Amino acid sequence: MKKNRKLVILSALLSGMMLLSIGCSTGTDDGEEGNGGSVDIGIVLPTKDEPRWVQDETRFKEALEDTDYSVEILFSQGSSAKEKENVESLLTKGIKVLIICPQDGDAAAAAAEAAAAEGVKVISYDRLITGTEAVDYYVTFDSIAVGAAQGQYLIDKATGEGNPLYLYAGAASDNNAFLFFEGAWSVLQPKIADGTFEIKNSPEAVTLQDKAELTRDEMSKIIGQITTNWDFNEAKNKAESHLTSASAEDKGDVFILAPNDGTARSIADTFGTDSDVTSFVVTGQDAEMASVQYIIDGKQSMTVFKDVRTLVKDSIDMAVSVLKDETPKTTGAYDNKSKEVPAKQTEVITVDQENVKAALIDSGYYEASEFTGLE
Ligand code: BGC
Repeated sequence: MKKNRKLVILSALLSGMMLLSIGCSTGTDDGEEGNGGSVDIGIVLPTKDEPRWVQDETRFKEALEDTDYSVEILFSQGSSAKEKENVESLLTKGIKVLIICPQDGDAAAAAAEAAAAEGVKVISYDRLITGTEAVDYYVTFDSIAVGAAQGQYLIDKATGEGNPLYLYAGAASDNNAFLFFEGAWSVLQPKIADGTFEIKNSPEAVTLQDKAELTRDEMSKIIGQITTNWDFNEAKNKAESHLTSASAEDKGDVFILAPNDGTARSIADTFGTDSDVTSFVVTGQDAEMASVQYIIDGKQSMTVFKDVRTLVKDSIDMAVSVLKDETPKTTGAYDNKSKEVPAKQTEVITVDQENVKAALIDSGYYEASEFTGLE
């Protein structure tokens, strides 16, 4: 069953991968080794504890199956110190390009600088490394569009006035958490100002609810109250404590901005057990398999599909350009607080029960047999 999926994905990637002129050696921290200790491209991902990043590893392996370049993938397990060690270990193996998704955007600056000091080109993957000039390129999804899609979904499902709104956010150490929140706020704020929604779990957000555009400091204040730190347990604990302090009138038919799928499942499970919550609409992102099943089962309302195959392909194409002494193609730039980092950005798709099959199964991203109850 997995094989079929691989075939579809491989054929979709084939045109791009032809460029690589092909034959493979991919090492990972699972014990596989790269080519004789010398590695061309080092890849560092944040953690294996979230399905999102395991998915990225799988897609990298699929995309690199036939490459002549030697590649090693390491995980930082949620630790910036481990991340730095990973980078140092890859540098001793002679990498020429580093593709890195930082655990903490600011903290990863030191690792990026260590790489740059050895003439290694640094590609920030999905999350931007901030506060350093030592980032050469950035491959990313349109993260503001992710947040806007989440906010818009809640708006589209709401009728009348005074709908209880519960806001949650990602980790403040992740620049994306700000972009997601900014995107969501841009569409939700007018609907809070006109009385469609009433924020129930963030006094800071209530104080700022008349401001259409928030500064980074203002967002920090709100995110400080509603952060999940991208952690399922923290999300659950926060949701529990918000429900405990909310009155029955603050519940009923509720609307929940959950920043990603992992936290959405925790928050949905928690809201689902409160007898004063009659119904809830809850957002997510990543199209993680567990959340796709939740959507099919009606336990999570939507997800934002970020096709990891595209991000993987874009970052490999960039790395290969660097290895060939060519300038990678970019489509814009992101300010990382020290420089404008040339970037390639990918669009996202809103997925709910209506289009889950077309977007995720018919597109070859997943196989129908990986889910139950799919019509
Ligand atoms: C990524 C999301 C992910 C989150 C938590 C963000 O930077 O863009 O896809 O769910 O981190 O790992």
